[in-house]
Formats: sequence, structure tokens, C-alpha cells
Amino acid sequence: MSTPETIPIASDHAGFALKERLKAALERRGYAVEDLGPTTDAATDYADQAHPLAERVSRGAAARGVLLCGTGLGMSYAANRHAHVRAAVAWSPEIATLARQHNDANVLVLPARFVADDEAERILDAWLATPFEGGRHERRIEKIETSDDARRAEAARHAPHEQATAEPGRDLE
Ligand code: RB5
Repeated sequence: MSTPETIPIASDHAGFALKERLKAALERRGYAVEDLGPTTDAATDYADQAHPLAERVSRGAAARGVLLCGTGLGMSYAANRHAHVRAAVAWSPEIATLARQHNDANVLVLPARFVADDEAERILDAWLATPFEGGRHERRIEKIETSDDARRAEAARHAPHEQATAEPGRDLE
């Protein structure tokens, strides 16, 4: 028997109830779940839960993870600050499918206050089951990881004369 994949999950207070439900749904589907909290629906700050989960995905300790907050926005802002994390807010199974096919979303973020419980499970299932399409989307994903600094250096490499004539300190872009 193979070891089940461990999927970390976390929420703030607004996503707590749905987190509990999705945790059970993941276990029923044979996944091991690492619950990064919270353990109650007492008010909490989403970033406190988003960062530990995103760190795990960023360093490859987990292949993918699930975050929940009221709108999904705060969780996605915090998670997407981590290298190699692509956190997608999905409010329908179709968005979750496209987030996998085109964007290789490795963190699913659910807007708990705006999706019904059953729909949330369908969104989760779509995200779990859909592979990344690769191809042209691979190149686009790679560009996400490229910082402004790296892009400037690359542009200067291809057009060194522009850099040579630029005024000192002037932004080439
Ligand atoms: C909490 O009230 C709410 O602001 C939070 O869950 C989330 O929606 C933030 O993005």
C-alpha cells in the first residue's frame, strides 16, 4: 500500500467551519491531512495561517495545500508572496479546473463566505483531479517566477547599447 499524500489545510475564523468539512472530505478520499489551524472559530489573522502552509509548499515539503478565508483574497495575497507558490481563489469547479490546467495552482483558496458547502467540495474535487496542461502554459508559469530585477538584467543582456547610453541611475524601463 502506498503512503497517502499529505495535504496541509488552514483557514482563519471565516473559513473554519468549511475547513473542518473539507478536512473530512479529504480524509474520506484517502488523503492524509495536516491541519495547520485554527482549532476554533475565534477571530484570527489569515496571514498567520497562510504563511506556514505556503512555506511548506514553497520548499516542497507539501506538493499542494488548501486555504480558506472569507473572500479568499487575504489568504491568496499572503500565500502568493512565497516563491513557487501559485495560490488560486476558486469559486466554481470551472475556475478550479482552469487554475490547474493553465496556472498549475498548487494552493487552492476557497472564499468560504461565498460558496455553499457542497459546491466547495466540488471545487476541491476539480482541483484535486485536474492535471496541469503544460505546453504554452509552462512558459507563462516560468515568467511569474521572474522578478523585475531579473527581467531588467535579461533585457540589458539583449540590448547592451541601451544600457551603455542610459543616464546613471535612470530606470531603463
Ligand atoms: C475576516 O472577516 C475576513 O476579512 C477574512 O476572512 C478574509 O475575507 C480576508 O481576505
